[in-house]
Amino acid sequence: MVNKINTCVFISGNGSNLKSIIINSRDYNFPINIRLVISNNKNAAGLKIAKKHSIPCKFFSSKNKKLFERNCLFELKKNNIKFLCLAGFMKVLSNNFIKSFGSKIVNIHPSLLPNYKGLNTHKRVLKNKEKYSGCTVHFVTPKLDSGKIILQKKIIIDRNETENSLQKKILRLEHILYPISIISIFR
Ligand code: GAR
Repeated sequence: MVNKINTCVFISGNGSNLKSIIINSRDYNFPINIRLVISNNKNAAGLKIAKKHSIPCKFFSSKNKKLFERNCLFELKKNNIKFLCLAGFMKVLSNNFIKSFGSKIVNIHPSLLPNYKGLNTHKRVLKNKEKYSGCTVHFVTPKLDSGKIILQKKIIIDRNETENSLQKKILRLEHILYPISIISIFR
């Protein structure tokens, strides 16, 4: 594939999904190229992953959301970004930001959406003694973890499952689901 889509990834933390997308993007036929990483947490481990792969990265504080979004829009435009992936980015983007960006934005969430939006997903899933959980990639709207679902993967919750084991199990699945979802969007 010659014309890969210029993509930015927003992160807040570890960046394991970022890593998985970067590695997949090296494939000749993968539809996107990661041109920029933006974090709202200056200590995010994901920033080190970006640097290690020689991808330009920026930190902008999101304490002032308007300013954060203005800074991001400036960088997105400057780098000619046409696709945005949220990967463990823990802020809800405003309607104004989504409109101003004007291109596709996708997110990954560690539950079977529309169930268990928001934080502490695994804890709530276990508390409710659910039989299944999973992860979802969806288009982003100004509403938290909402928007059209692109792909979803389901797992069985073991009898002795803990928050930690469930988190690890689902994260491994996310690393497969996110790249497949990106391929499916641009097919
Ligand atoms: C992932 O489990 C992702 O689904 C979740 O944060 C984790 C980030 O891990 N995102 C959300 O909860 C968004 N609502 P990573 O930084 O290692 O990719």
